Amino acid sequence: MGNSLFRTKNVEQSVRDTGEPERQLKKSLSALDLTVFGVGVIIGTGIFVLTGTVAKNNAGPATALSFVVAGIVCALAGLCYAEFASTVPVAGSAYTFSYASLGELPAWLIGWDLILELALGTAVVAVGWSGYIRSLMDDIGWVLPDALSGREGVGGFGFDILAAALIVVLTAILVLGMKLSARITTVVVAIKVTVVLIVIIAGAFLITGSNYSPFIPKQQAVEAGTGLNSPLIQVLAGWAPSNFGVLGIFTGASVVFFAFIGFDVVATAAEETKNPQRDMPRGILTSLFICTLLYVAVSIVVTGMQNYRELSIDAPLADAFKATGHPFYAGVISFGAAIGLTTVCMILFLGQTRVFFAMSRDGLLPRFFSHVHPRFKTPHRPTIMLGAIIAIVAGFTSLSELAELVNIGTLFAFVVVSLSIIVLRRTRPDLHRAFRTPWVPVLPVVAALASLWLMLNLPTETWLRFFGWMVIGIAVYFFYGRRHSRMNQNEAPSSSRA
Ligand code: ALA
Repeated sequence: MGNSLFRTKNVEQSVRDTGEPERQLKKSLSALDLTVFGVGVIIGTGIFVLTGTVAKNNAGPATALSFVVAGIVCALAGLCYAEFASTVPVAGSAYTFSYASLGELPAWLIGWDLILELALGTAVVAVGWSGYIRSLMDDIGWVLPDALSGREGVGGFGFDILAAALIVVLTAILVLGMKLSARITTVVVAIKVTVVLIVIIAGAFLITGSNYSPFIPKQQAVEAGTGLNSPLIQVLAGWAPSNFGVLGIFTGASVVFFAFIGFDVVATAAEETKNPQRDMPRGILTSLFICTLLYVAVSIVVTGMQNYRELSIDAPLADAFKATGHPFYAGVISFGAAIGLTTVCMILFLGQTRVFFAMSRDGLLPRFFSHVHPRFKTPHRPTIMLGAIIAIVAGFTSLSELAELVNIGTLFAFVVVSLSIIVLRRTRPDLHRAFRTPWVPVLPVVAALASLWLMLNLPTETWLRFFGWMVIGIAVYFFYGRRHSRMNQNEAPSSSRA
């Protein structure tokens, strides 16, 4: 039994499985498509919403440094992702990579973890999108009743109808086909980047120097609660819970980390890339680099426009323009943000369906989900099922705690992927690697430790929820996945296929 838990699916087998015609995705993406994809999913709620929260609660003007810290962690992990994606160019991202290197149980855990990251991430962004749309609707006098806005209305019922509707529309788009999605993405990404540039350029003329003083606000003790809200590191180390100061920069980094989620999703499209060996690392690293620059610039400008204590939490970028007497820019920014968040949602959702598809193709989830649509060549079954679930979650749930749960799940995946690089170099030194992570094993170890550090800066209650989810995942594996895994066929050729 011990052996079967750590049985690995060899890389050639992973690539060969993608050749079964009725389970094959279309290869249509280039490096540019991937970069657009990356920027499309990376820039979203993180910069449009969380910048204000973190500046106000954790880091003040030093939020720019939080972005730098989170960006460095992502770049380190990105270098590891790039090697894996260029070595194992099949759908499924970290899940596939760890199946090829660490074994079936760790791969399952990663896949299960990615479901958390991507499905909840999609729901979080859909709710953020709905907030921006409602704010625009309010401007023209259309007000939705509370019960349909995600807030509890009369009778205690609250369903975010706009968030759910967005997911339904995206489900239809994704079922219809990848190329259509990529085209829509390109246009929307252009709008989103333009809006971010407007914030940076127009905002730069509205900076008041005194807002940067102090750049790193002095550490402040927070009233002790149950300890569940405090970062785990503060609880473990027995430090008095505090905000701001140098520690606040790291707490901020563990939250704004959400703003970078998505570059790893680019790797999930490896199987649909024309030349994954060359284009995948380019796509991941270029999109990450562009986004880091934009985030640092935006956070410097916004904390310069308005004192960090006064920044709004719902729409900080737009509201900073309102506060400085420029409502026109505020409207344009809200409009662009609302449009931009649609692609984030769509690509997170796309990544989610591809991970699910890969897990089902391997038999760890029912094989029913790994048939592609005969005409559209998309995994329509998981897309429709997940769309329904995400629409319900997005309709009934609120943002912030979910975002932290998404972060911890993603950082955990980073830790595993980084360590897998070292394992795969030892176990399969012969494999062709179009992109090689530099300074192995030092860089992957540093990447894993850096990700772990950010995880430790997340609240204790987030850790508890994460453990709960993983325990459920282990149960599902032992009751279903282990028995239905296609790896059983390799070990016992007579066993039947699900
Ligand atoms: N990085 C994406 C965002 O900030 C998930 O919305």
